[in-house]
Amino acid sequence: MPQPPPPVPDFLYGTAWKEDRTPALTEVALRMGFRGIDTANQRRHYFEEGVGQGLAAAYRAGMVTRDDLFLQTKFTYQRGQDHRLPYDPAASLSEQVAQSMASSLEHLATDRVESYVLHGPASNYDWTDADAEVWEAMRKERDAGRTRLLGVSNISLPHLKQMASVHAELPAFVQNRCYARLGWDRAVRQFCREHNIFYQGFSLLTANQEVLNHALIAGLAASAKATPAQVVFSFARSVGILPLTGTSNAWHMKQDLASRDLILPQEAIQAIESLSG
Ligand SMILES: NC(=O)c1ccc[n+]([C@@H]2O[C@H](COP(=O)([O-])OP(=O)(O)OC[C@H]3O[C@@H](n4cnc5c(N)ncnc54)[C@H](OP(=O)(O)O)[C@@H]3O)[C@@H](O)[C@H]2O)c1
Repeated sequence: MPQPPPPVPDFLYGTAWKEDRTPALTEVALRMGFRGIDTANQRRHYFEEGVGQGLAAAYRAGMVTRDDLFLQTKFTYQRGQDHRLPYDPAASLSEQVAQSMASSLEHLATDRVESYVLHGPASNYDWTDADAEVWEAMRKERDAGRTRLLGVSNISLPHLKQMASVHAELPAFVQNRCYARLGWDRAVRQFCREHNIFYQGFSLLTANQEVLNHALIAGLAASAKATPAQVVFSFARSVGILPLTGTSNAWHMKQDLASRDLILPQEAIQAIESLSG
């Protein structure tokens, strides 16, 4: 019987660049209240096995169960990897997707994830035949029950339009770096809205230092007794961006989650949206 889609959390904890601290930080993030975890089977930037160790520790401590969690991982082409590949590079792309997924499930000690994401298309310009093969292989993983939903990352509007012209099925998620100077990825977000795609935004803080230092944000933060980071996360949610945070600091985790209680006035949301793009 088909399962209902899993609820999508309103914040994702990102596990990139944490190396040996990955197990402990994953566990801390769960303790602080995150229920959505983003990772990738790309050892160059992520330690997915360490995420699995953090999850195991949280299960043992009785903090959460597997069913409480939304786990998202990614398939990464060889060009985005170092020598620590989760698949045989001589295998076909379809086989690489299956091998990478099998390895992710082993790392995370689970039989399914909630979301499986193509880390980035093969070309920066076009949706290629390679992407089409990978996407169809990802759909097979989904149809076999190893992921509930599918996504694409680092994707442009032309990619998405080309994808729509060659595939019957579009992703449930887009995950992109969100630059304020590009209207917070306005064109891609608009496409997502029109096609019922959840938009996930990363680097909301690191790509937008000028915004964090802007007088408008400082003023809003001061009047709400909040931090500039909380204003940015609250803004993001107000315009339909599901935010990621990868903080390594437990206090920042707490503050980031608390941004869910910060409701900005409509004029402030509009002002931030057009701040620099
Ligand atoms: N699909 C992709 O290609 C892709 C690319 C990049 C990232 N991601 C995902 O997105 C996640 C987040 O990455 P990110 O690029 O947004 O950067 P990030 O890893 O979240 O980095 C945020 C930086 O801002 C600092 N910071 C200061 N105050 C903060 C606060 N209140 N809350 C949060 N951070 C604060 C953090 O320092 P402290 O640690 O001291 O708080 C950290 O240095 C990654 O872990 C990964 O899962 C995906």
